Amino acid sequence: MKFFIDTANLDEIKEANDLGILDGVTTNPSLMAKENITGKQNITKHYRDICHEVNGPVSAEVIATDYKGIIEEGEILADLHHNIVVKVPMIPEGIKAIRHFSDNGIRTNCTLIFSAGQALLAAKAGATYVSPFIGRLDDISADGIALIAQMRRIFDNYAFDTEILAASVRHPMHIIECAELGADVMTGPLKAILQLSQHPLTDKGLEQFLADYNKGNK
Ligand code: E4P
Repeated sequence: MKFFIDTANLDEIKEANDLGILDGVTTNPSLMAKENITGKQNITKHYRDICHEVNGPVSAEVIATDYKGIIEEGEILADLHHNIVVKVPMIPEGIKAIRHFSDNGIRTNCTLIFSAGQALLAAKAGATYVSPFIGRLDDISADGIALIAQMRRIFDNYAFDTEILAASVRHPMHIIECAELGADVMTGPLKAILQLSQHPLTDKGLEQFLADYNKGNK
């Protein structure tokens, strides 16, 4: 399972990368705004900075919602760095654009996926990744993890190359359940990734080992 970090914060990206387990980065316009990165020039520079930090796919989202605009913007983003994956929303114009990018060797991440039908369409259009937002489904009392299972079955039935990128991950159980179901990638905050390392018995055991060592080495 690949681990992507879902942030535009360079310090968090560096921290995750230093762990040696980071495979890529996803961003979106809200995450950029959270870091006060505004204006085309600053956003472009920030994508380049992220790409220099991480040796893996970096999703950069288009703002346009019409076919021509998505193509223009996506081609500019893809030219910024070979790590860039063009993130396209799940709308009919987006599906057309994903087909165009796929036919022209540009990798895509179809974002804002909330149903198996949307995922199937994106895969048929040739998306490199599809991003089901599991946390946002849970937020409205739907079952995000069940969507991952359904998508896995459908993609396996037809051997789609499209990777399932579990997005909107909120906590370590999301990551574990996605791993059990065979999601290809998960993207989440640094906090959820670090929480995977925590166990009270690990802390207790380590404390005891160190105390016993210190007793014998006084
Ligand atoms: C995915 O690529 C999105 O950036 C992201 O996972 C959205 O997550 P949120 O629901 O925590 O905003």
